[in-house]
Amino acid sequence: MTQQVSKAALNGAQTPANDTVHTLPTGRDKRAIGPENRPFPAWHYAMLNDHARNGAIAAAIADLDLAGKTVVEIGAGSGIIAILFARAGAARIVACEMNPAMAEVARETIARAGMADRIELLACSSTEAIEKGLLPEAPDVIFTETVDCGVIGEGFHAIARDIRRLAGEKTIVLPHEIRQYGLPVCAPAIWGLNHVDQVFGVDMAPLNAWATRTYFPVRAAWHGFETAASPQRVRTYDYLQERPARPVIFESRINGIVHGLLSWFELQMGRHVITNAIGEHSHWHQAFHPFPEPLKVHEGQKIALRIADDGRVELL
Ligand SMILES: C[S@@+](CC[C@H](N)C(=O)[O-])C[C@H]1O[C@@H](n2cnc3c(N)ncnc32)[C@H](O)[C@@H]1O
Repeated sequence: MTQQVSKAALNGAQTPANDTVHTLPTGRDKRAIGPENRPFPAWHYAMLNDHARNGAIAAAIADLDLAGKTVVEIGAGSGIIAILFARAGAARIVACEMNPAMAEVARETIARAGMADRIELLACSSTEAIEKGLLPEAPDVIFTETVDCGVIGEGFHAIARDIRRLAGEKTIVLPHEIRQYGLPVCAPAIWGLNHVDQVFGVDMAPLNAWATRTYFPVRAAWHGFETAASPQRVRTYDYLQERPARPVIFESRINGIVHGLLSWFELQMGRHVITNAIGEHSHWHQAFHPFPEPLKVHEGQKIALRIADDGRVELL
């Protein structure tokens, strides 16, 4: 059962005669929409208000000569980047968004911005759009901002495969490279966000069967940690060229326990860089990649590891 509700009515405003009418489940109003029934993640709000991110993307777009050019966007979200490309003069933008609710929002923001004649919004994944021949081949620009705190969680590998299928020799890919940095840390508080032993003498370890083994977002500075070795680049991601995992060797500067690897990225957006490094005002948290078990180390000990394709730390 569904009911027709206008967005303006939901916002407490008078419903104008030409207001777009949306279909919402019966009995739900704005007050009832919480994280559990919103059809897209809440980070879209924080992301859209991340001025450092937005500024770098806008600056990278402003650096391009877009007159007469065709742009493909993978992951349009609520449509802002496609609109920026249109404002910057691109002749044709084909944007795909695989979350249907998000795609509907994008369609509306694009219409409100008066850009519907130049932006084509496809409510499907890039893979589906390529398979159906809906995306122009060898476009002048391919843009995607589909990166989570640990780079790959929003589907990096699939999107990179799609970009390689679509790109021509002259296609500019934004971003073209993402550098991931990391450092091993002694961080019992962060470890405790994903692991439990005894509570009041009761063995709670069965819960650990569900612990994250890849990585999870964390505001590192909030929880505190001890740096166990100097930071290094741990992996490079490139949309045009496969860059396999490589071993990285850290040298411990502590006698103690290492719980995992804290990582952050530098996303190269043309000449501009977006980062979620510790201390930056970014909507992205850092990523914490827990070791399989806490590792006892001594000063000078080598810690060899690799970031696997699923973001997991493999100790070598
Ligand atoms: C981080 S948001 C960015 C939105 C927008 N580009 C921006 O920068 O404001 C990424 C969006 O990409 C969508 N997405 C992820 N992988 C996709 C794919 N392969 N095809 C289409 N959409 C995708 C997600 O649903 C999400 O809405």
